[in-house]
Amino acid sequence: MTAPLVVANWKMNGSEALLRDVAKALVGRRGESDVVLAVPAIHLSLARALLQEGVRWASQDVHWLESGAYTGELSAEMIAQMGASHSIVGHSERRAQFAESDETVAKKANACFRAGIIPIVCVGESLEVRQAQQTEEVVCRQLEVVLAEIPTGSEGLIVAYEPIWAIGTGKEATPEMAQEVHVALKEMALKAGIHLDKVLYGGSVKEDNVAGLMLMPDIDGVLVGGASLSAQGFSELCTNAAAAQN
Ligand code: 13P
Repeated sequence: MTAPLVVANWKMNGSEALLRDVAKALVGRRGESDVVLAVPAIHLSLARALLQEGVRWASQDVHWLESGAYTGELSAEMIAQMGASHSIVGHSERRAQFAESDETVAKKANACFRAGIIPIVCVGESLEVRQAQQTEEVVCRQLEVVLAEIPTGSEGLIVAYEPIWAIGTGKEATPEMAQEVHVALKEMALKAGIHLDKVLYGGSVKEDNVAGLMLMPDIDGVLVGGASLSAQGFSELCTNAAAAQN
């Protein structure tokens, strides 16, 4: 069984001091969980200097073009130059607050492949959609648009299922609910000719609920927001995720 992938999404939080603490807390945990820290872009160069083998770093977004007059933006190529291995794209906060469409997200995922980094594509439904029992339809449609854009034969695409109602609310999806959606996403991708090796769950994941999630056969890792902002807590979370899979 492969080690679970634990991705920290710091969002617009954290500091150099926190990065130093997290780096220290994760030393020696190599092999337990595969860990990626999506820190604010300003901290990527410190991440590169501090993080040890087994812990990688990522951006939280990229622009879809390689360069140009786009003040304030960073291209996937720039992120790759910082030694980042992954980038989150299409987080629901960006979709909602920065009006990113499925098509924009697809272009960003494509840009990651162009630059040689792995996109972590976020999909997820609102509470209204879940209550209307349209979750699978909505998340599969979000992913479908991305699959249609990325080059054929692209390997390593990661999808993060993050129900919007579970983000930052303390109301996580049950492992069974997440498992059901992960299976639907994997089946849909397979029909499009893409094997999804890793589908992560995100939304109120904490040290004490990660084990239950990781017991599900199609939850291959987690995307963690708030609980990744404590060095000790996040390090425990990584250990608990791996222990559940052993
Ligand atoms: P929380 O873990 O704070 O709910 O955030 C989840 C998330 O949005 C990760 O990308």
